[in-house]
Amino acid sequence: MERNEFIKSLGLGVALICTGSCMSGCGGSKSNDPTPSPGGSTGGSTGGGGVSGTKVNLDLGSQLTTVGSFTTISGVLFIRLAAGNALSSFTATQASCPHQGGGLNWIQANNMIQCSLHSAQYTAAGAVVSQPVGGGSTSALKVYSLAIVGTTLTATVA
Ligand code: FES
Repeated sequence: MERNEFIKSLGLGVALICTGSCMSGCGGSKSNDPTPSPGGSTGGSTGGGGVSGTKVNLDLGSQLTTVGSFTTISGVLFIRLAAGNALSSFTATQASCPHQGGGLNWIQANNMIQCSLHSAQYTAAGAVVSQPVGGGSTSALKVYSLAIVGTTLTATVA
């Protein structure tokens, strides 16, 4: 083998090794790319306290169409309190009870939020009305700020 041929074959080998390590490096970084969270009711935000600044959307064209209706999306309890799509027609609170994490429901007949586990009750503004049945104590609910654009109601989890 002449010197030129040896250098060429050596260069080709080094190039193949570099290409291989670059490809594996690129593949690894792709798996670490954050996946953007889709908006809307199918959003992937977490329940409970949520992350500061997380927005949770609801479509008023198909959800909360009647006064007294409520739904939980991504840890947010949305309630329609009045007709129309004004901000004052809605409230949004945390969806899990501060006592022990029970699910919260809006009881239209009583005009309050009630826990499904130990029946603690809260106003639509999140204030405690009655403590858990059977002992223990709970605290006021987090209430989230709302915005309406078109038929999209958005709660900002802060
Ligand atoms: S978890 Fe809600 S009152 Fe106990």
